[in-house]
Amino acid sequence: MKILVTGGAGFIGSTLIKSLLKNQSHSILNLDALTYAGSLSALADVKNDPRYQFAQIDICDQPSVAKALYDFKPDWILHLAAESHVDRSIENPKAFLQTNVIGTFNMLEVARRYYEDLSGAAKHAFRFLHVSTDEVYGSLGKDGLFSETSAYDPHSPYSASKAGSDHLVRAWATTYGLPVLVTNCSNNYGPYQLPDKLIPLAILKALTGEPIPIYGNGDNVRDWIFVSDHVDALQTVITKSNIGETYTIGANNEKTNLDIVNCICILMDEIKPNPNGAPYSDQIQFVTDRPGHDKRYAIDANKLKNELGWEPSLQFEEGLAKTIAWYLENQEWMDNITSGDYQNYYKEQYG
Ligand code: NAD
Ligand code: TYD
Repeated sequence: MKILVTGGAGFIGSTLIKSLLKNQSHSILNLDALTYAGSLSALADVKNDPRYQFAQIDICDQPSVAKALYDFKPDWILHLAAESHVDRSIENPKAFLQTNVIGTFNMLEVARRYYEDLSGAAKHAFRFLHVSTDEVYGSLGKDGLFSETSAYDPHSPYSASKAGSDHLVRAWATTYGLPVLVTNCSNNYGPYQLPDKLIPLAILKALTGEPIPIYGNGDNVRDWIFVSDHVDALQTVITKSNIGETYTIGANNEKTNLDIVNCICILMDEIKPNPNGAPYSDQIQFVTDRPGHDKRYAIDANKLKNELGWEPSLQFEEGLAKTIAWYLENQEWMDNITSGDYQNYYKEQYG
């Protein structure tokens, strides 16, 4: 399969590309604008693979996207490029509307024209998989789970822009017959995640001896999935699902934010004790809550399990230990982000 991945220099996209390339019959075009969130360093191991190409393109630039797509002629498009962080969306919503809504619209327009020109086996095989979030469903109370039938009720500029993109994708299927799939996944964690998200931020702050900020009283709940389990689920969906389906993806790991940060502190106390002898949890600081902070996310992934046979492979404790170990072994990567040299670092190293 020839696979176009948008946002392939991001946290999930880079993990996906490395996993797809393990299949010798796949070749990949990674289309990414390299925003603050894009890092080619995550793809250093595959950059010389003849089955891998990179194109620095903004998905809002329709002519460049069209040229890349018609030159590469993909069988599948996996669309991950997005502005992805809720706090940034509160500070600068426009970038989220631009990339997540207009950018997705561009991808759909180019894909639909390309699809209309296909014929035979290529037309039959073509898929557009839109990678989205469970945050489009809003917030749960104490009970219940999000599933494919949950109503849309987004609260943040990020989730509203992703909800808008999900609706566009389905409209392009209904109106133009584009063969789409949509996935809505819970919070990911793992190597190469930027420290604007809770888990890497807590690891980084613990290491630098700074306060670990917890919004509000820390009882908001997220349902965590290790990034490679999400990536496996995406590959399961694109290879096995019927056209037009939606799947919610999660690994049944609900935790409060305070529990997550405490788990991180305890594991770090064991693996790399604080030089001053104090437990890392002493650094926890409760700070002003995020505006519109969703209380609880939790996923029912039974459709994916029952219809397509996918199940997560990693227990949370194992995934978190792997993640912490990775950050400890890759402090240079983290230092380059925090010193502001991040963009320069990978441009120098990887061209
Ligand atoms: P990320 O922020 O780490 O990566 C996003 C990537 O998209 C970056 O490489 C960035 O350079 C690229 N990008 C941004 N704007 C672009 C543009 N205009 N044109 C081209 N490229 C652009 O995000 P992530 O965590 O890897 O998330 C990937 C996708 O998965 C997103 O669509 C996100 O909404 C979705 N998702 C993420 C999570 C999560 O917990 N991280 C959970 C569910 C769904
Ligand atoms: P985050 O990683 O930003 O993901 P999302 O907002 O998409 O769920 O945040 C996860 C949870 O952690 C969320 O409830 C907000 C909270 N949080 C903090 O308490 N402190 C922080 O510094 C950050 C970044 C997040």
